[in-house]
Amino acid sequence: MKIGILTGGGDAPGLNAVIRGVVVRASQGNHEVIGLEMGWKGVLEKLTHPLSLAEVEDIHREGGTILGSSRTNLFKIENGPEKAFQSMKELGLDALVAVGGEDTLGVAKKLFDMGAKTVGVPKTIDNDLNATDYTFGFDTAINRVMEALDRLHTTAKSHHRCIVVEVMGRHAGWMTLYGGMAGGAHVIIIPEVKTTMDEICGVIEARRKAGKVYSLVAVAEGAKIAGEEITRSDKKDSFGHVILGGIAERLAKAIEEKTGIETRHAVLGHLQRGGDPSAFDRVLGTRLGVKAAELVEAGNFGKMVSLQGGNIVAVPLEAAVASLKTVPRDQYELAKLFFG
Ligand code: F6P
Repeated sequence: MKIGILTGGGDAPGLNAVIRGVVVRASQGNHEVIGLEMGWKGVLEKLTHPLSLAEVEDIHREGGTILGSSRTNLFKIENGPEKAFQSMKELGLDALVAVGGEDTLGVAKKLFDMGAKTVGVPKTIDNDLNATDYTFGFDTAINRVMEALDRLHTTAKSHHRCIVVEVMGRHAGWMTLYGGMAGGAHVIIIPEVKTTMDEICGVIEARRKAGKVYSLVAVAEGAKIAGEEITRSDKKDSFGHVILGGIAERLAKAIEEKTGIETRHAVLGHLQRGGDPSAFDRVLGTRLGVKAAELVEAGNFGKMVSLQGGNIVAVPLEAAVASLKTVPRDQYELAKLFFG
């Protein structure tokens, strides 16, 4: 078989482990794998990338994706799906492995419904995909958040300041919650739970009264202040997402005004996504890639490979893209026990 593979959406540490996993497992069945560069754009424009065993040697240790990535939505391009089918035919592809989040996998599902032989691999640092326990990239990203908080403790303490840290995660607070818990944030604010300025400042002021001279607040970029989403621009990408950002700065000003405590902010941004994957993400990506190649070999299409209870299983693509996986209230309440 000739198998195409693409990586779409925001990059996540572990993507190269998936690519290597697919190539190594496919080669054992004497299948050929070719990469398509820059996500769905690569399918439309037939931007191919050879993927020999030599090409993928050791790449599981590297961040990013050797194939490049984009947020191209071929269903927003005139005759996009038809063009994609034509390209796959011209490239002689028997199957396509799409590695991505809700957007990329949503396209893979629609193409499957139209007759394409697609298999999905769940990827996102946000960890907001359903039908899988975790997505690869998440573990690396929360370690970055934890490390940043570890560093901010000492400077905030030295200056008796409050520091507000902005964490990625568009619609779900997984990264903020897990990174914040691990790094000892004193208040955690996520999109799923409405938090008022009174509550936030109440925790900060209570810490002061208890003789603790500094505070760290972890806030998700997609959290809302008084119901308002904070964006950097009104521009939307081809999947309809606005560019979030700015909530930490707004919140820092509001905290300083309300409490009189000197407050700074830090935006972790793409530092959370770049760099080498953690051991967990290297292994998870490898296992998912191998399973994806097995599904293709077995002709089991329209599926997403998924981590469930420690095992890698196949689930229908629609189960993954039907709705987002957000933080359940009980997990937030548990974290709240440690606020202050
Ligand atoms: O979906 C992953 C993600 O990293 C989000 O957490 C973040 O909002 C977004 O991508 C940033 O996208 P971009 O890299 O296009 O600015």
